Amino acid sequence: MLEHQRVDKNENIAKRNISNFEEFPFRHYLPFIHKNKHIMASIRLGDNAPNFTAQTTEGSIDFHEWLGDSWGVLFSHPADYTPVCTTELGIAAKYKGEFDKRNVKVLALSVDGLESHKGWIGDINETQKTTVNFPIIADENREVSTLYDMIHPNADNNSTVRSVFVVGPDKKVKLMITYPASTGRNFDEILRVIDSLQLTAYHKVATPVNWKNGEDCVIVPAVTNEEADELFPKGYKEVRPYLRMTPQPNLN
Ligand code: BEZ
Repeated sequence: MLEHQRVDKNENIAKRNISNFEEFPFRHYLPFIHKNKHIMASIRLGDNAPNFTAQTTEGSIDFHEWLGDSWGVLFSHPADYTPVCTTELGIAAKYKGEFDKRNVKVLALSVDGLESHKGWIGDINETQKTTVNFPIIADENREVSTLYDMIHPNADNNSTVRSVFVVGPDKKVKLMITYPASTGRNFDEILRVIDSLQLTAYHKVATPVNWKNGEDCVIVPAVTNEEADELFPKGYKEVRPYLRMTPQPNLN
């Protein structure tokens, strides 16, 4: 059976068997159920970030409502009281000023429960010399991890890998990165990509290889030279008709 036929068939089966199908939280993913065992949440860049309600260390959160007009970083951790995660959550807390500057809210996830999270936060604060200042989802039943495909069974059946999702104010997925459990994420890189995403969203420029904040940017191909003359008063250099460099537009 072809993939699209199997998906259609599964959707029809789900509709027949779930009386309140329209309210079922995972209805968009049901067609991707394989052999009634495994939900393949296929999230791609540009997709709507699936919404969810979850218990967190700061109360119950409706993800989209909680994001409001902000950008969001949703990132998963293999487990509480693990060394690499402890350092990551410490840095994420210390970077609050950087996230605030960019209008970004941070939301962590681990598959342990709320009491465990609360005890662990005490350890993070003490050992990393900070105060955790964002919610951590207690995803004990793996609902959010499954929705976002954060469990990769061939790496580890029980815990999440280190996934990072950046979501825009339009609730679309803008970035996905997956790290193995044994490698701590680079939060400077996450901020760097957010800067690039925001430059594209607000200033119609892209960022070239190894770009860092303050360096020249690339005018996106959809902008004509006439528009570029208006949009980029600092001017631009046309290296090739398709490669036009301009000073970073949001700096004085
Ligand atoms: C951790 O700290 O989360 C971790 C470290 C090594 C392997 C797996 C997880």
